[in-house]
Amino acid sequence: MNEATAALGIEAISVYVPRHYLDLRDLAEVNGVDPRKYNDGLGCLRMAIPSPYEDPVTMGWEAAAALLENYRVDREGIGLLAVGTESGVDAAKPVAAYLHGLLDLSRSCRTFDTKHACYSATAALRHALGWCSLPANRGRQALVVATDIARYPVGSPGEPTQGAGAVAMLVSDRPHCLQLEPYPEAVYAEQVMDFWRPNYSAEAMVDGRVSVDSYLRALEYTWRQYAGNSGLGLDDYDHLLFHAPFAKMVHKAYRRVCQLQAGAGTEPGAAQFERHCLPAVWACQELGNLYSGSLYVLLAALLERLQERASGARLGLFSYGSGCCAEFFSARVGPRAVHWRGKIGLEAGLLRRQRLDYQTYLDFRAAATAFNRDGSYWQAVAGWGNGQPVSFLGIRSHQRVYATATRQPAQALEYSARARVVK
Ligand code: CAA
Repeated sequence: MNEATAALGIEAISVYVPRHYLDLRDLAEVNGVDPRKYNDGLGCLRMAIPSPYEDPVTMGWEAAAALLENYRVDREGIGLLAVGTESGVDAAKPVAAYLHGLLDLSRSCRTFDTKHACYSATAALRHALGWCSLPANRGRQALVVATDIARYPVGSPGEPTQGAGAVAMLVSDRPHCLQLEPYPEAVYAEQVMDFWRPNYSAEAMVDGRVSVDSYLRALEYTWRQYAGNSGLGLDDYDHLLFHAPFAKMVHKAYRRVCQLQAGAGTEPGAAQFERHCLPAVWACQELGNLYSGSLYVLLAALLERLQERASGARLGLFSYGSGCCAEFFSARVGPRAVHWRGKIGLEAGLLRRQRLDYQTYLDFRAAATAFNRDGSYWQAVAGWGNGQPVSFLGIRSHQRVYATATRQPAQALEYSARARVVK
């Protein structure tokens, strides 16, 4: 084991939970579906809905700003900002560039986005770990942000698995939250059309069955590879975190690894699933799919729910990005919950949020589409001060306009009195 890589990982983690949600029983009623299909068949209870004044930039800012504040991070120490997202707001300009400005990070900072569907944050995390391991960067920190809005067409099979949110992670050689184990990589790639979003579409396209099969194929491959590389088996893990597009997918994934371990006919018992997966999977039931943040919100959920009981636990983590690229890796939770207790923000965010009715959910979607067109700034600006510390105010001359509570664009205030909200 290489000492240089042994002490690297996640120093701090913070989650942004959107302020609104839709109860899936309400969606089932409108879609004419038995609610048990959504709640039990897919394992989804509620899905996070961003307001029209939110986008992946504002959500990423919320997670990252909370992290910087709650963990008292010195901005000057951050030399890399990598954003994993598949709902980026511009084909050329990265979300990282907007975040760098809104967060007031140092000029001496490398900024970029990574893209490979839901694998993108893992790609960013891997890059950050490599960067931190360089002797020249010792003692410096990297900020990795996963931020996405999962949106499928209204009435489609994917709709009940939607979600939104962001996770920010500080990566360094002080891995208080999670220290990665330095076994050889277990990765898988295959060109597959299971889930994609053409540049002209705000909604993802998916071949559901193909995507589930592809996910399980990648899991099987990487699980076998990692077991061979590390010698670790199912019983060596205290908990398993699987990319969670919907909670039932975690059951399918767990069943598959149990079968790989103990034979094709194996059915995991409820108690076994409860021990290995339940402390984390509840977050997916509450938020829906966070795409790039999906795996890491499970990590946050586990730390928040177990607190001291998570200390020292060995985790197995499976990251899957459609298209596809996947990876299985293992890590140890840090020894002292004092480092993350009260600082993650997941349960606090869930307590604060409000339930939307179905019509308002549709209105939010329509407004988000309208605000993402050039010239929307005049309409969107009326929402300024919507209770958010940072807002997306629409597009003016093909440029996105953002404002934080401390940095309000003069125009936003000037025009707000006569602007009109578009629904
Ligand atoms: N009561 C209880 N359960 C019911 C039920 C009822 N009345 N009616 C149906 N069910 C069960 C079904 O038996 C099924 O369970 P199993 O999977 O255990 O067989 C489950 O509910 C779902 O039913 P369907 O298979 O009929 O559902 P569907 O075809 O309408 O949609 C889906 C399922 C294809 C996953 C769809 O939600 C989808 O397209 N989702 C988006 C794609 C996705 O998430 N893919 C996952 C892998 S890809 C990935 O991970 C990347 C990513 O983030 C997108």
